[in-house]
Amino acid sequence: MSNPSAQAAFAGTDLVLEPVEGSSPAVELSQDARAAFSTEPVLARHNLQENPLFSDQSLIELLDRHPRELIYAITMGGDPAREENRLAAHDGVSGRDLLEAVRRGRFWLNVTRVNRTDPRFRDLIERLYQELAKTVPGFKPQKTQGSVVISSPHAIVYLHADAPPNILWHVRGRKKIWIYPALDERFLPRMDLEDILAGARHEYLPYRPDFDAHATCYELGPGDMATWPQNAPHRVTNLESLNVALSTEHFTAQSRARARVYSANRFLRNRFGLSRLSSRERGLGALAKTALHRAARRLGLEADPPVPKQWVPTLRVSRDSPTGVVELFLS
Ligand SMILES: [Fe+2]
Repeated sequence: MSNPSAQAAFAGTDLVLEPVEGSSPAVELSQDARAAFSTEPVLARHNLQENPLFSDQSLIELLDRHPRELIYAITMGGDPAREENRLAAHDGVSGRDLLEAVRRGRFWLNVTRVNRTDPRFRDLIERLYQELAKTVPGFKPQKTQGSVVISSPHAIVYLHADAPPNILWHVRGRKKIWIYPALDERFLPRMDLEDILAGARHEYLPYRPDFDAHATCYELGPGDMATWPQNAPHRVTNLESLNVALSTEHFTAQSRARARVYSANRFLRNRFGLSRLSSRERGLGALAKTALHRAARRLGLEADPPVPKQWVPTLRVSRDSPTGVVELFLS
């Protein structure tokens, strides 16, 4: 998923949590899915829908306990071709009221970095990736992180491309996801991808309905897992029910190499006007560019350093509103 701020301050919380009884996380990929993992869209199965961590009561406790600056409430319009995201404040709104508002209204709650604040989610995410690494030949995640995403019936996530590779573990409700080809300039121009990988721009992309002729579309229900190649643009539309999902990101040697090369190309484009540089992620050229970029950064020579993304809330979550939110300055 896409977060409004990649720079949110992390506030640790001392937790004393009882282990939750539940089934061990399991992941099941077909032979074809194993072969296509990270290079094509993939649909597979898991069993998180049986895990009590995703029950209403557990979600309420999570919302009450999690640092609020790491939870984003985001509303949207109705047209997937017109991005109208707005951030809603939710300080002082209880976890129970947040869950009720998202169930009745039309927005999504992105509970980010759950692996950093709750050892149960950290363990769950680590075990899911251990299962994947055992199953998928050559898959070696070096670092992982995750968010719990709770979203209203009929909520949409506009077309966007995340910087790291990610996996959507769908737990409750039903949704449709459209996944478009990665590294294809019809959907994501090279310069925009360079900016996304450098952390210098938001991840949202212009969308046209005719893109869908090139999409892989899955309808996801509880226990479905979808993943796609790094940076493949994707968008989501919930069906009629409240949706709960675990969204994870992972970093591999390959995904980090791509981020370094595209960030170096962005630096060379901005600093020296060099465009259409090779996007090869390996080899001497890649090594030379990334070493030069690293040295320039150390010397403070980056012409256009990435800037933190800032969103300002203009709404406030309210369980009494039919949309789940009210205008912040009228409330
Ligand atoms: Fe995403």
